[in-house]
Amino acid sequence: MPGTNTHQKDLGENSLAVRNKLIERTARSEKIASKGQEVLAQEIVQTVDLPHQIYIDSAEGPYLIDLDGNRYIDLTGGFGPNVLGNKPKAVESALSSQIKKGWHYGIPSEGQAHLAELIKDSSPSVDEVMFCNSGSEATMFAFRAARAVTGKRVVALFDGSYHGIHDYALIRADSKSDRSTPSSIPLGAGIPDEVSKDLMLMLPYRDENAFELIRQYKNDLAMVVIEPVQSSNPRLDNEEFLHGLREVCSECEVLLMFDEVITGFRIEYGGCQEYYNIKPDLITYGKAVGGGMPIGVVAGSKQVMNSFSGAEETPAIFAGGTFSGNPLTMAGGIGALEYLRDNKETIYPYLHEQGNRLAKEINEFCKMNNIPAKLMNAGSMMHLIFGGEAVDSSRDIDRSYYKIEREFYLHLLGHNVIVPGIHLAFISYAHTPEVIDKIIDAFKNTFEDLRSDGYL
Ligand SMILES: Cc1ncc(COP(=O)(O)O)c(C=O)c1O
Repeated sequence: MPGTNTHQKDLGENSLAVRNKLIERTARSEKIASKGQEVLAQEIVQTVDLPHQIYIDSAEGPYLIDLDGNRYIDLTGGFGPNVLGNKPKAVESALSSQIKKGWHYGIPSEGQAHLAELIKDSSPSVDEVMFCNSGSEATMFAFRAARAVTGKRVVALFDGSYHGIHDYALIRADSKSDRSTPSSIPLGAGIPDEVSKDLMLMLPYRDENAFELIRQYKNDLAMVVIEPVQSSNPRLDNEEFLHGLREVCSECEVLLMFDEVITGFRIEYGGCQEYYNIKPDLITYGKAVGGGMPIGVVAGSKQVMNSFSGAEETPAIFAGGTFSGNPLTMAGGIGALEYLRDNKETIYPYLHEQGNRLAKEINEFCKMNNIPAKLMNAGSMMHLIFGGEAVDSSRDIDRSYYKIEREFYLHLLGHNVIVPGIHLAFISYAHTPEVIDKIIDAFKNTFEDLRSDGYL
């Protein structure tokens, strides 16, 4: 059976049925999946891998439609950017008008300054803005800027965080190390050990020992970087920890960066800075800011952003990029942010209300039926955690449920709801209350499938 690494004889009735159903109705995707694998070293964005990769042909509002014409409720959210859902009119018309005028000039268009103003107006922490093409580029430039401005070498990250694909971001807490004093190791081959050992510091998430470590290393520490809401651990009760972190960074003269690549323009229009009322020194954005076009943004106080221009005798860093600030991305971003800004009083309360309702109903169902799972959510971003225990960090997640988790998402797909392979789910403004009801039903039906097959 293509793509399945579980033997058929080990599968329960529902698990066999969902595989057969999905295989039968996705013949075109199956064909492409086997063809694609011959020439692709790695298929980027592997959203679904069981029973085989599913290929999307089009997207509209809360739905994705695959090559065989099957329609799924989309909880992928494009990995976060699609706060307004798929193909929102505001972005579509901005992109269409720009395409008529050309989409890549090299020489800047007026779009950069316009989008920069929208970002600046969204947050009191932003004096200046610099554009690049992805969240990873943004964090890479931000780390460089912090090292240049402070003259210090070390950047600190938290366990369970994700900041992109460059060497300084790809370190993780060594699972063998102590929860409160984590050591770090590179994530994947090809990254020299010296990066994690000498140039980065791993801090424990939601653990006040992080503050002691910052005090201890302050003379070498250029910046502390945090996702104010971690995608691996979405929750909003981080206020106290984040305010404590702001205080200790100021006390130690260490820069504080909020990585708002996911949370910016999603948790609130002004991101987590607005939600928690905190002013970081530097902020990175991506995803939603481009309205679905590739984008990264470094933003922050003039003092730190001076490192891009060299103004006021600040040591200047090298930054650039062929496609950085390209007119099409700027148009998509302006279309999205203007719509979000003009409708923020409706959009953000709606996202919180529906996200909370979805989590509450699913969690009540799990509790009533003794299912060891909890849907964690921070407004519209969510992650189903198996194991039944409360977690403070994704390090605390019980990994023994991994097989069940994979099976869960396969069944959910059978009930026409698609969640990305990283198992982080997003709803959007296009997900109407009726669509949310369907998601709740699909989750409940999926739990029931697994229970009757003996998984739970
Ligand atoms: C918090 C955070 N920072 C940085 C990144 C990297 O962004 P990109 O995938 O656009 O390079 C991500 C991506 O998911 C992210 O969630």
